[in-house]
Amino acid sequence: MVPSWINGLRVPLLVCFVALLGYAGLLLLYGNAPAVTDAGYQPTQPVPFSHAVHAGELGMDCRYCHSSVEKSAFATVPATSTCMNCHQNILGNSEQLVPVRESHETGLPVTWTRVHDLPDFAYFDHSAHVRRGVGCVSCHGRIDTMDESGVYQDQPLSMGWCLECHRNPEPHLRPLDQVTNMTFVPPDGDQLALGRELRKSLNLNPSTDCSTCHR
Ligand code: HEC
Ligand code: HEC
Ligand code: HEC
Ligand code: HEC
Ligand code: HEC
Repeated sequence: MVPSWINGLRVPLLVCFVALLGYAGLLLLYGNAPAVTDAGYQPTQPVPFSHAVHAGELGMDCRYCHSSVEKSAFATVPATSTCMNCHQNILGNSEQLVPVRESHETGLPVTWTRVHDLPDFAYFDHSAHVRRGVGCVSCHGRIDTMDESGVYQDQPLSMGWCLECHRNPEPHLRPLDQVTNMTFVPPDGDQLALGRELRKSLNLNPSTDCSTCHR
């Protein structure tokens, strides 16, 4: 005999099951849609901005322009006023900077094209990584060498890729003051030992529950 309280649960359970199936189907559909960007993707930008010049040669820290990266889920692309801090004076007549000056005059933002773009059903948070010892270079590659042809997507950003590091973060961990250093290597060369030590001291436990990234 099936107890009657289980009978009462049958319909809600069935509804849950169907809803879950529908959700998984939607995820599959979006996961394969062409809007999801792929490794190597390099759109042409309205201004030939070079990270190799600004972050490489001039040695500017990433956070000068991507100032919210440690505080919020989004890194954000800098406002025109950030560029004008220097380009008010430096290269004030450059052809390449016409869209920046126009934006400054009109107040309309420069229309940068997004490079990295997860589907909406996947949740990502920059501060949760950058404040826990995961450096930009692990996910974006050598941005400081990307020139005026633009930023490209270096890593697949697939679910398997996220999970690989959540299961085994040690090869990627670094001291918190080194997260924007593109060429960090541990002083004694032993990345795994450093990774284990940092994981322990920061008490890191990256989750692999579906709800961490699908909420
Ligand atoms: C002088 C300002 C400036 C500095 C410094 C800077 N960036 Fe950027 N970054 C930009 C601008 C402007 C864009 C948008 C244009 C583009 O994508 O090339 C951008 C785009 C990006 C993107 C692609 C965003 C997208 O659309 O997906 C990444 C990733 C990035 N920067 C990472 C970094 C890292 C890592 C550093 C430090 C090594 C850094 N940036 C330093 C200005 C800057
Ligand atoms: C800290 C100062 C500083 C800031 C902030 C800055 N730049 Fe620059 N930028 C420079 C310098 C210096 C050069 C010249 C580098 C060289 O020629 O070696 C330059 C060169 C450039 C050039 C090449 C122009 C040409 O005619 O050769 C472009 C385009 C450019 N910057 C865009 C931007 C944009 C867009 C931003 C804002 C996201 C920005 N810069 C923010 C200092 C800055
Ligand atoms: C653990 C991986 C990871 C790390 C570490 C990381 N990013 Fe990202 N970044 C991403 C992903 C994934 C996206 C796309 C997010 C989306 O579409 O919601 C992204 C997007 C961006 C963007 C585009 C704007 C946005 O927020 O979507 C910028 C700019 C950027 N990252 C800069 C940085 C900088 C600078 C650092 C280091 C201080 C950094 N990222 C560290 C994975 C990472
Ligand atoms: C290179 C390693 C690495 C990669 C790649 C990575 N993560 Fe993480 N992630 C971590 C670490 C380390 C933490 C911090 C865990 C902790 O605080 O205990 C974290 C934390 C998170 C959190 C916060 C969890 C919470 O409990 O608040 C989210 C959300 C997340 N990751 C999503 C993603 C997604 C989505 C991707 C792929 C687009 C991704 N991560 C790729 C290492 C990584
Ligand atoms: C650490 C973050 C993370 C965790 C944990 C995670 N996912 Fe994902 N998932 C993603 C990202 C990011 C994508 C988008 C991948 C892309 O655009 O290529 C994704 C995509 C998917 C897709 C779409 C198909 C595909 O493979 O692209 C399905 C279905 C899915 N996830 C189900 C799940 C289930 C079920 C779980 C729990 C067992 C889970 N995910 C756990 C990050 C995560």
